[in-house]
Amino acid sequence: MKIKTAASLIMAGLLMAGSQLVMASSDVAAVDNPKYAKECGSCHFAYQPGLLPERSWRKLMEGLNDHFGESAEVPDADRQELTDYLVKNSAERANYKRSAQFLNSIAKSDTPLRITKVPYFVKEHREVTNKVRGNDKVKSLSQCELCHQKADGGSYAENEINVPGIGRWED
Ligand code: HEC
Ligand code: HEC
Repeated sequence: MKIKTAASLIMAGLLMAGSQLVMASSDVAAVDNPKYAKECGSCHFAYQPGLLPERSWRKLMEGLNDHFGESAEVPDADRQELTDYLVKNSAERANYKRSAQFLNSIAKSDTPLRITKVPYFVKEHREVTNKVRGNDKVKSLSQCELCHQKADGGSYAENEINVPGIGRWED
């Protein structure tokens, strides 16, 4: 009986260590909705829902007819499904450290429509923004996957950064 308890405690410990490893390997939860990946990943990188708060996603989804100067409209039923997915996995619902950092940097009165305008993002990218000025290979910081080689999996670690025209990022 005692041995069994000890064994199950060890098992539980291993499971916990395992899930912490999974958490550590990605900064935000990866996209796991095929419709979202298809509809919202056709013009640009399919941004992870955990990068913006719920109010930002709602506002974005209400204005798809004029989405940064383009039409990104989808049928009503799809819009509802995509909004539900975004809201359910938004920065306030996601249990990831990086989501909390994005969220906590935004003033309560503010509803940013761009991840690249979130104060935490701006701060983290100040140095690279200066370095890529005039670099034709980097037209906009909105293309996360251009520099973050594992962005698709929700991972933005420093040792996975490769900036076009600059190379590996070493601070
Ligand atoms: C028809 C093309 C198109 C589709 C489809 C599209 N977008 Fe966009 N999106 C754009 C353009 C253009 C921009 C501005 C990019 C830039 O400034 O470099 C943008 C920017 C964004 C940004 C801001 C990125 C930043 O700078 O932080 C978010 C967030 C976003 N889109 C979410 C979505 C979501 C969610 C969907 C699906 C409902 C979607 N987009 C579908 C064209 C599209
Ligand atoms: C031009 C290249 C480039 C683009 C495009 C870019 N990043 Fe970054 N990103 C960097 C660099 C360089 C750093 C700074 C790493 C450091 O010095 O800590 C960074 C840092 C980060 C960090 C903090 C990582 C850490 O470990 O501290 C996150 C999160 C992040 N980027 C997310 C994004 C997201 C989301 C996008 C797209 C909306 C994006 N980045 C677009 C280059 C880029």
